[in-house]
Amino acid sequence: PRKIILSRHGESQYNEKALIGGNSSLSVRGERYSRALPEAVIARLPQDEAVSVAVWTSTLKRTIETARFLPFPKLRWKALDEINAGICDGMTYEDIAERYPAEYEARKKDKLRYRYPSGESYMDVIQRVEPVIIEMERERECLVIVAHQAILRCLYAYFMNVPSEDIPRVAIPLHTIIELTPLPDGTMSEVRIAVD
Ligand code: G3H
Repeated sequence: PRKIILSRHGESQYNEKALIGGNSSLSVRGERYSRALPEAVIARLPQDEAVSVAVWTSTLKRTIETARFLPFPKLRWKALDEINAGICDGMTYEDIAERYPAEYEARKKDKLRYRYPSGESYMDVIQRVEPVIIEMERERECLVIVAHQAILRCLYAYFMNVPSEDIPRVAIPLHTIIELTPLPDGTMSEVRIAVD
C-alpha cells in the first residue's frame, strides 16, 4: 500500500473499568476520539486528488464506532477481532491474578505462547491475522486499520520486523495513530501522532 494508518479503537466502556475483552461501546472520551479521527487521518494522507482510501475494522462495536465518521469505504474483518481471552473475558488483570493465579503466572512467563483456556494465544492471533496481512500486501492504495491492541501488535510487528518474542509487549497506545509508509528500500518509515 502507499500508506498504512493503524489505530486502536477509542477508549471503550470496558477500558474505563480495566476489563478485558467484551463487546462494549465507546466511552465519552472514546467518542471524542472517533470525532477527531477523520481530520487527523486526512492530514496524513497523500494530498493528490486521486487518492483512494479503505477503512478496515473488526466486527466488534468499539472499532466500528471509532471508524464511524471516516468518510471512506469500510470493510469488517472477523480476523481483526481482539485476542479471545476465553474464561478470562470480562475480568480485570487483578481478577485473573486472584481467581486463576496459575494462569496469571503462566501468561506472565510466556505471553507469546500462553493460550487462555477456551481462548487464544498471541501465536494463535499471529496465524489468524495472516489472511489480513496477505490482503494488506496486495492493496495498492491507502489503508486505515481500526482494530485492537493485541491485533495491532501483530500487524505492526509484521511490517516493522519486530521479533516474535517482543510482539506481546509492543506499545500500541490508545488515541494515537501509527502511520507506516513503505520506503524504496523495502522497509517502512513510522510516525506516531497523538490525537486529542
Ligand atoms: O483485552 C485485551 C488486550 O487488549 C490485550 O492486552 O495481551 O497485553 O493482555 P494484553
